[in-house]
Amino acid sequence: MLQPSCNYRASGRDYTSSMLILGIESSCDETGVALVATAEGPAQVPVLLSHALYSQIEMHQAYGGVVPELASRDHIRRVLPLTDEVMQASGCELQAVDVVAYTRGPGLAGALLVGAGVACALAASLGKPVLGVHHLEGHLLSPFLSQDPPEFPFVALLVSGGHTQLMRVDGVGQYALLGETIDDAAGEAFDKSAKLMGLGYPGGPALSRLAQTGDSQAFKLPRPLLHSGDLDFSFAGLKTAVMTQARKLGDTLQTRKADLAASTQAAIVEVLVKKSMTALRETGLRRLVVAGGVGANHSLREQLNALCQKQNIRVHYPELHLCTDNGAMIAMAAAMRLQAGVGQATTRYAFDVKPRWPLAELLT
Ligand code: KG4
Ligand code: ZN
Repeated sequence: MLQPSCNYRASGRDYTSSMLILGIESSCDETGVALVATAEGPAQVPVLLSHALYSQIEMHQAYGGVVPELASRDHIRRVLPLTDEVMQASGCELQAVDVVAYTRGPGLAGALLVGAGVACALAASLGKPVLGVHHLEGHLLSPFLSQDPPEFPFVALLVSGGHTQLMRVDGVGQYALLGETIDDAAGEAFDKSAKLMGLGYPGGPALSRLAQTGDSQAFKLPRPLLHSGDLDFSFAGLKTAVMTQARKLGDTLQTRKADLAASTQAAIVEVLVKKSMTALRETGLRRLVVAGGVGANHSLREQLNALCQKQNIRVHYPELHLCTDNGAMIAMAAAMRLQAGVGQATTRYAFDVKPRWPLAELLT
């Protein structure tokens, strides 16, 4: 029987037993599709063959935040053209795909259903299985897509729009929670503070850009739970402090905005850095992985790099463009699960998404 063609498999390297995994991300406001190949041998890191991304940011900007119904509709429009783009760029035929992975949760229910529905329909038509992936596991394993992938075990600082967690990671599926936020996530603190300063959506990148021109010592803002002695976080109080400060400034806010942005960023980053270093010390691990949208923050990277270098600790990040949501991390997480034998793809095409899905359910 003629094998479906794929440039990658025909590249002369011995990938005869490798698997091709198509990944679809649609949990929020980004439609991402990617193709990843597992390489031979359990120690081999899977390879990203191609990926494509469509961000809905511009569409939601007019509303100051994500409108779930619009997000779902737009995912429907984008997902198949992006899949075509990915397959074409990889030089592989769709029939060569072995597993279709998709984000099963957490996220917006309608948006998740689009990715799950398309993944199941595509897989059923190809006669291939599907694998539902936890979005945060995608972020967690995204640094394996970088040129300098980490090695297990490591401490992971997972900082996305909805989550802030420190984890001990001993292998794929072997995660132990060390600490997490008891209220708002770090990304949320960036976004809400940015909104208070009239910086629009998404606030994190805008606030961090503005912070570059401000004085981080200008305003004294709280560092919640900095000395709590545990590895938990709390950012809700910081947001309130920023609001109080913004109100106090009144008409002068406009001229002091950069200072307030820099002070806010400094407070968030200081807590993230301090707790990450404590987690490293307490676990005795010498490797840190930072993942999720806030991992793109320049100041966070700069401070972690400096401290880790001093203490001879390796620190890994996803490539900047893969810090925020994308399909590559979903395909990668599926590939790594399958390779490690901790994930099972299925031909039971029930697209049961999990809008609320605590990562704890994946923890060992
Ligand atoms: O991981 P992500 O793309 O989506 C979730 O799974 O939530 O993270 C989005 C979050 C948003 O809160 C966004 O403002 C924040 O990451 N973010 C940043 C930066 N880039 C994205 N926060 C601070 N500095 C940045 N450069
Ligand atoms: Zn995310």
